[in-house]
Amino acid sequence: MTTTPARPADRLARVPEPAVDVSPYFDLDRGLVDRTIFSDQAVYRQELRRIFAPSWLFLAHESQFTKPGDFFTSYMGEDPVIVTMGKDRKLRAFLNACRHRGMRVCRADAGATKAFTCSYHGWSYDTSGKLINVPNGGDYPAHFEQDQWGLIEVAQLDTYKGLVFATWNPEAPPLVEALGGLTWYLDAMLDHDPEGTEAVGGVHKWVLEGNWKLAAEQFASDWYHVNISHASALMVMSPTGKGPKTDIVQTPGRQYTDSLGHGHGFPTHPKSRFDDRVVHEWTDYEALRERLGDARVEGPMTTGHGTVFPNFSYLPVNGSIRVWHPKGPDKMEVWAWTIVDKSMPDEVKNAQRIYNLRTFGPSGIFEQDDGENWSEVQATAHGFVAGSMTLNYQMGLGLQSEDGVHPGTTGRLYSDGAARGFYARWRDLMNTPAWHEKNAEKNAEKNPEDTP
Ligand code: FES
Ligand SMILES: [Fe+2]
Repeated sequence: MTTTPARPADRLARVPEPAVDVSPYFDLDRGLVDRTIFSDQAVYRQELRRIFAPSWLFLAHESQFTKPGDFFTSYMGEDPVIVTMGKDRKLRAFLNACRHRGMRVCRADAGATKAFTCSYHGWSYDTSGKLINVPNGGDYPAHFEQDQWGLIEVAQLDTYKGLVFATWNPEAPPLVEALGGLTWYLDAMLDHDPEGTEAVGGVHKWVLEGNWKLAAEQFASDWYHVNISHASALMVMSPTGKGPKTDIVQTPGRQYTDSLGHGHGFPTHPKSRFDDRVVHEWTDYEALRERLGDARVEGPMTTGHGTVFPNFSYLPVNGSIRVWHPKGPDKMEVWAWTIVDKSMPDEVKNAQRIYNLRTFGPSGIFEQDDGENWSEVQATAHGFVAGSMTLNYQMGLGLQSEDGVHPGTTGRLYSDGAARGFYARWRDLMNTPAWHEKNAEKNAEKNPEDTP
């Protein structure tokens, strides 16, 4: 009998599930999407295997970790993880599951610790994931190798301008490559000056009845809903109390899309900034123009919205960053942070935080509208007839191009372009065996008798 513990890549998908071919659910050239992708349990299980396990996923903001032992717990797909700073000040992320019976070894949201001690039988792990204490260790057999039973670590962890991402996939390209052309747009929020950003005010978490893709695709692509869904909020925010004028409502702008599934939409009308007055007055637009260029200050830095495939989204002008954690096909958990420029004086940071809460906090005047839409959409997805409908993603078809101002492929602001890009990437990943499935196949060929 061998007791060699499996490495993460071998452990995944040891019981293979039949794959669903998702091609029939899409005709993206004609802008058509089948609703099955939002409600089917087998599709959802496959997302966990082929979208969430192989992709780079957002975990936290770097400023949440200032000294060794600081930790934050989150999820990658439905897998619980701990992100922590080791004694060497290096950030690491581990599966938050004890190697003994699988209990979460850390049940706090965040904090500081020297070790993660499982509250079931007391196995204890240090901040580098090493198993450092096993109660009644003398009762284990001689071949029990304690150093083989550390926490399972992600394959790669990296940061991009303060944002911490990780992946289980040892074959994933480096993070900056995975972000691709979106970084030009993302920098409109993250790179205002050399000091960078920090997270303030903790993390807000709330549950919505809706498939996680509804939120991710909307943040990538959907300016269309703004004037209708948010009409009352826009009225409240407009100086006249009557809502924005027609020239702003029919606002010009662009929407970025790429083959990696990312998206970023933004108006370019000078009056379509809905930002906080204190922040606005503090902001040195001339310096920003010099650093980021006119196109970025007049475009993505305005009231834009974006998604890093698959489930991280952001709103530059609000300083809102958020992750849509999947919790089954019908439910998501939203985790939202406010980020501010480190260089802001405290009162400006505070103004930004409150502005974000008022607009996109759990009870924010815009957030409420969005959550209501996603839950309403999900509520009809399980009816036999309603669930069989084909949905329309045709807006802006054939109108995407390079515009010579904004890098990459962009289309009109009012477009489903980035949603089509999101689903093209989703479809391709869903129809491609992930690295762990290929490994499982290889292992089965090598040791057919070991395969369950
Ligand atoms: S499950 Fe963690 S020590 Fe037993
Ligand atoms: Fe919205």
